[in-house]
Amino acid sequence: MVEVPEHLLQRSADRRRDLGATTGDEPAAEVPPSETSAAPAVAQAEAPAAATGPSLPELPDLEPEPEPQPEPVKPWVHAALTRKKIPVWAVPVLIFLPFWAIIFAGTLESPEHDSEIIALGREVYEGNGGCAGCHGADGGGGIGPAMVDGQVLNSFVDWRNHVIWVVNGSPPAGQVYNDEGDVSTAGMPSNGDKLSAREILAVTYFERVELGGAAEADLHDLEELFEAEAVLPNRFDIGGTFPSTLNGLMASAGIGAG
Ligand code: HEC
Repeated sequence: MVEVPEHLLQRSADRRRDLGATTGDEPAAEVPPSETSAAPAVAQAEAPAAATGPSLPELPDLEPEPEPQPEPVKPWVHAALTRKKIPVWAVPVLIFLPFWAIIFAGTLESPEHDSEIIALGREVYEGNGGCAGCHGADGGGGIGPAMVDGQVLNSFVDWRNHVIWVVNGSPPAGQVYNDEGDVSTAGMPSNGDKLSAREILAVTYFERVELGGAAEADLHDLEELFEAEAVLPNRFDIGGTFPSTLNGLMASAGIGAG
């Protein structure tokens, strides 16, 4: 053990008295920080002094703790801490999101639904066929009977008779013309000379599916015939088109049972 010079012990004792640490019981934290930083030399001197005997109180470690340098805040961390968590406008957007998803899912079905045959059928019904003028834009009826709610399906249970009806139009007034036993007013013009075979197949499909509510699966043969352009005539003959005519075309195209 190194002998501590007397003058250093004296200085240490004086210094402790100055700091008010004479009892030795006072905790180190009581020492004001300004004092501690000013006294590193004293601390160096006191540490060995403490080891000389039990009479000396345990000395506080006056070595100034290095100030912990705060980590510089990264700009993105700063941005994350300072921005508002959820902007007010986002709340209705978030609430609407599931509904939007459902609506969007619904729209996904229409392109598949609006196939070529439906698209052409709609065009004929509303446009060059002039059907909407007498049967209503949405098939609700007018001069001609309504087609909605399966009415047109009950009138012509077999789609082939529907096609032939559109080709020929009304028979003379007073004649029963459909499966329901309705009597003709002779109000429906023929279309065989105005519309192509494809247009007549398309408008029939449109009226049954889109207006009448038929399942597309029930009209598979009609759709296939529409697509069998190679076997289709340009026009269906007025007065010369029968279920057997359509069956013959389907057989040529290799379309099943019918
Ligand atoms: C000038 C008016 C008029 C136009 C245009 C017209 N129809 Fe008609 N349609 C009628 C009338 C009237 C009847 C009822 C039969 C009758 O009274 O002779 C009818 C009946 C029908 C029926 C049978 C409905 C049922 O329940 O008995 C179908 C199907 C039909 N029309 C389809 C068409 C299609 C397809 C077109 C367009 C290519 C068309 N109609 C254009 C007046 C019209």
